[in-house]
Amino acid sequence: MFRRPFRRTEEHALGIDIKSAKDIQAMRASCRVAAETLLLVGQKLRVGVTTDDINTWVHDNTIQQGARPSPLHYKGFPKSVCTSVNDVVCHGIPGPELLRDGDIINVDITTFFQGFHGDTSATFYVGMPGPAARHVTETARKALDIGIAEVREGAHLGDVGAAIQEYVEKRGCSVVRDFVGHGIGRKFHEPPQVKHYGKRGSAERLKAGMIFTIEPMVNMGRYEVKLDARDKWTVRTADGTLSAQFEHTVLVTKTGFEVLTQRAQPLRASENIASLFIG
Ligand code: MF3
Ligand code: CO
Ligand code: CO
Repeated sequence: MFRRPFRRTEEHALGIDIKSAKDIQAMRASCRVAAETLLLVGQKLRVGVTTDDINTWVHDNTIQQGARPSPLHYKGFPKSVCTSVNDVVCHGIPGPELLRDGDIINVDITTFFQGFHGDTSATFYVGMPGPAARHVTETARKALDIGIAEVREGAHLGDVGAAIQEYVEKRGCSVVRDFVGHGIGRKFHEPPQVKHYGKRGSAERLKAGMIFTIEPMVNMGRYEVKLDARDKWTVRTADGTLSAQFEHTVLVTKTGFEVLTQRAQPLRASENIASLFIG
């Protein structure tokens, strides 16, 4: 989500929704459909498919489950999923270009089901990755886990950002500033904004029943990004280096968290490195 500075008053007026037990059940259902669709993408991804093929898989699978792909027509977005290849940071639009051996691609799936949105993404390896592709992808994967581990009632959102930033910078990569995680529920994007950088003890205090995404975008080089002047969606690294991202939708509980978009199996072409050798 594009980072828009909230005015203080606005932040208070809007508030952060606390989900009811019933809302949480529906969120679990929509997040499950999103997670299963991401698993399916991993199973079908190959050298030589197009990002339009991925769009078709996601669209058709979502409709088959009785759900809707949230990105389609969201603020004018023309497709059902975001596909972000190599130096594309986020919001890549599926098209006819073929995926090539060594590419990395983030597939970002948001599903509307039972009145609620579920949002999850992962970066996949197309064929055999080079060392830079592996470094940025594995850094982004671990950064998400490290951020999630900070979540519990009473913690601050700044703890999540600080933990992610510290890890990513230690690995010689950078954290994108211009896009953030977000509250999610009946709306695709709700308060709060979830920064993937910052200071411990800063920003909102977490309460059980809050639901938001954590979705660090990690660049090999500098954190600055640029928006494609033609399509006004595609975001690329300003310096042309690779970028990777992982995203989960997370529920705050009294003692910790529940990852609502958790997958039942490892993701092919991403989490199971051995699967890269089978193709
Ligand atoms: N799924 C993205 C996110 O994590 C938002 C995509 S907006 C779209 O917030 F319009 F590009 F689909
Ligand atoms: Co997303
Ligand atoms: Co999101």
